[in-house]
Amino acid sequence: MRLVKENGHIFEEWLTPSEIDSCVQAVADQISADFKNREPLFVIVLNGAFVFGADLVRKVNLRCEVTFIRVKSYTGMNSTGTLEYLVPLQQSVEGRDVILIEDVIDSGLTIHYLKKHMSENGAASVRTVSMLFKPEALKYDDAEPDYVAKLITKEFVIGYGLDYDGWARNLDAIYRLKE
Ligand code: IMP
Ligand code: MG
Repeated sequence: MRLVKENGHIFEEWLTPSEIDSCVQAVADQISADFKNREPLFVIVLNGAFVFGADLVRKVNLRCEVTFIRVKSYTGMNSTGTLEYLVPLQQSVEGRDVILIEDVIDSGLTIHYLKKHMSENGAASVRTVSMLFKPEALKYDDAEPDYVAKLITKEFVIGYGLDYDGWARNLDAIYRLKE
C-alpha cells in the first residue's frame, strides 16, 4: 500500500487509480442512461472537482456543455461554515438541466447553496454528482447527491483533486489520513 506525507501527516492509499476508474465509469453510465436525449450543462465545482470532472465528462455519452464555478468552504481539515464565490458562473443556466460536479460532499453546505443559486438563476433542473459522499457528516438534507462514485466515512482524504491546504491535488489515487 502506498503512503504519502503531507503537511506532517501520513496518508495511506485508499482508492487506487483503477478502482477510481471503475467507480467513475459506473456513475457516468447511470448519468448517460438517465439523461438520454437531453443536453445537460455540467458545472464543475472548482478547485477540487477538476480531476473527477475531467474524467467524468469524457466517460459520459451525451451531447453536453461544461462550465465552471469556483467556491471555497474549507481551510485545513475543517469546514468554515460559509461559502465564498471566488469565480462566479460564466454561463447562463436558464432553462438548462444542470448537473453539479463535486469532489466530495461533507457537511453539504457547498451543494446546498449552489443548488439554490442554480434554481434562482432559472435552471430547469438541478442534479448533483459527487466523487465521494460522507453521509455521516451531512448537515443539509437537500445536499444529498443524486449520483455518488464512492461512499466514505467521516475521514479526511487527499488526492485525485482533493487537497490539504492546496497541496496533493495531483496524486493519482485517493489517500486517507493514517492515524
Ligand atoms: P461541504 O460544503 O461541507 O459539503 O464540503 C465540501 C467541500 O469541502 C469539498 O468540495 C472539498 O473542497 C472540501 N472537503 C470536504 N472534505 C474533504 C476532504 O476529506 N478532503 C479534502 N477536501 C475536503
Ligand atoms: Mg470541492
